[in-house]
This record gives sequence, C-alpha cells and structure tokens, in this order.
Amino acid sequence: MTMSEQNGDERTAVSVIGLGRLGARLAQAFLNAGHGTTVWNRTGSKADALVAQGAVRAADVRAAVAASPLVVLCLPDYATGAELLGPVADGLGGRVLVNLTSGTPEDAVRTADWAREHGAGYLDGAAMSGTRLVGRPEALFVFSGSQEAFAAHRGTLSSLGDARHLGEDPALAPVYDTALFGMVWGALAGFHHSLALAGAAGVAPTAFAAVAVGHMPFIISLLAEHARQIEDDRFPDDDGTVDVHRAAMGHLLDTSRAQGVGTELPELLRTLLERTAAEGHGASGIASVAKAIARG
Ligand SMILES: NC(=O)c1ccc[n+]([C@@H]2O[C@H](COP(=O)([O-])OP(=O)(O)OC[C@H]3O[C@@H](n4cnc5c(N)ncnc54)[C@H](OP(=O)(O)O)[C@@H]3O)[C@@H](O)[C@H]2O)c1
Repeated sequence: MTMSEQNGDERTAVSVIGLGRLGARLAQAFLNAGHGTTVWNRTGSKADALVAQGAVRAADVRAAVAASPLVVLCLPDYATGAELLGPVADGLGGRVLVNLTSGTPEDAVRTADWAREHGAGYLDGAAMSGTRLVGRPEALFVFSGSQEAFAAHRGTLSSLGDARHLGEDPALAPVYDTALFGMVWGALAGFHHSLALAGAAGVAPTAFAAVAVGHMPFIISLLAEHARQIEDDRFPDDDGTVDVHRAAMGHLLDTSRAQGVGTELPELLRTLLERTAAEGHGASGIASVAKAIARG
C-alpha cells in the first residue's frame, strides 16, 4: 500500500476475470471501495450491472490484463485460468496475479511458477466466507505467495474483507482453504444434527440456534486451548477424558436412534473416540483425538 493509497487519495486499478457468483462480488467490492475496476467475463452480459456502476468492460482477456497492475482471477478451476491466460502471458510482466479460484496446493505451486516465468508476482487465495459477506470486514480471505506482492496490494485486497497473508509458499492458501472447509463442515454438521434432535422434541430451529450461539464463545476458547495442548503434547482432562466423552457419545447415539434421527454423525464421533481410547488415551483429555486423526 502506497502512502497516498493509505491516505485514500489513490486507488490501485484492478481487473477481475470471471464474473460468476463470487467474481461478480469481488468486482463489486473493488468498485465500492473506489478502485478503477476492469472486468471481463466469457458471457458478456454478466458485466452489465458492474459497467452500469462505472466498471470498464474489457474487450478480451488481453485487454483486461493490460488494464491494471493487479489482475484477479475467479474461475471454476485452474485449467480454465491457464487456458485463458496462456495466450496472453506476454502481457503479465510486472503485474500481480491473484488467483481466487479454488484448487489444490499443486495447482497453486504450478501457477506461481508459471507466473514467475512470465515476470508476474503471484498470490494464491481463497474466499472463506461465501459471497454474501464479500466487501465486509468480517469476510475472511486468505492469501499465500509473494510477500512483496501482498505488501504492495494489501490495501486493495482489504476491500474484499479480512485479507490475511499466510506465508510465501503458494500452497498455503489451498491448504487453509480445504482445512477450514472441513472445519466449517464439522461444525455445521454438528449443528444440523442438534437441530434434528431438538426438533424431534418439538424445539424450533431458531429457538435452538439462539441458545447454540450463546455456547459458541466456549467452543471458540477450546480452539486456542486445544491447539496449545497439541503443540505441547500434553492433554489435561479439564474438559473431560476421552472415556467420559465416549460414554456421553453413546448417549447421543442412543437418543438419536430413539428419536428416529440420522445417526451418521454420532457414530463417526464415537468411532474416533473409541480409536483414541484403544491407542492408550482413554484417560487423556479430549484434544488427544487430534493425535489419533493425525496418525490416520
Ligand atoms: N460461490 C462461492 O460461494 C465461492 C466461495 C469460495 C470460493 N469459490 C470459488 O470461486 C470460483 C468461482 O466460483 P463461482 O461460484 O463464482 O462460480 P460460477 O458462478 O459457476 O462462475 C464461474 C465463472 O467462470 C466462468 N467460466 C467457466 N468456464 C469458463 C471458460 N471455459 N472460459 C471462460 N470463463 C469460464 C463463467 O463464465 P460464464 O458466466 O460465461 O459461464 C463464470 O464467470 C470457484 O473455484 C469456487 O470454488 C466460490
């Protein structure tokens, strides 16, 4: 971020290639934050609403790349990005390519190498908060790759939300992307199961959600606490032992079965607790489950 950008009297121009559900939101956020925004999409009509608000329509991908020092890609996969940018790679020199397409760590490393060969800085990225929150400070965006490129464009990327740089290794963004995706699904699946169980007892989903939200600070506190325990390889039983939780999981399983709701989730969790106990951690704290998972 330049001094003048910090002062708000200069905004880096951005080009967004791919205006699907996410890409259109990204372009909108840059536009809202006052960045000159150039857009290109295969189906041209998807740019209309943005152009009506002041975005510039690029005639083709080459023009989109040429228009801005910061070029953001948001496509279904890396192969599509390679297909579109391959023929215009000679125009990438001196620019920073930010790829918010979902993919694998290998995709990210390969694309970073390719960008470097063509004289471009590269940031791999992942949008972690869906599309609705894009442009708000709570929308998490993770980036990895060139620290220099991130430092230069941090202010612009912060137009999208909470922009975090994870490190120089471009693989880190997809690693966090998939890990956080798994975490969110674990939490949501637990919530969905609770709703079914409470619902079978006549509790309305919104009533249950109101109480569940109040329980979240405790769960959040466990994340940092368990992370520390895992790093220290010490598993105190303050939050209960694996054996105690294994018995409680049996109750959850029995109650679910009795209420006629799906038992997939408690079965999975009981399997994990049983394996952890079988590996000698029955009397350890519950964070020792992470050891069992890491061993596979
Ligand atoms: N949507 C989300 O909540 C979300 C959240 C996090 C990450 N992501 C990731 O963001 C990326 C885009 O997702 P999305 O939801 O925006 O997808 P989407 O709504 O399906 O949009 C796909 C975009 O790619 C373009 N496209 C597809 N094939 C193409 C081709 N062969 N050549 C040129 N353009 C092509 C489409 O153009 P047309 O308009 O011409 O079809 C469209 O602009 C994905 O990797 C996704 O995993 C999405």
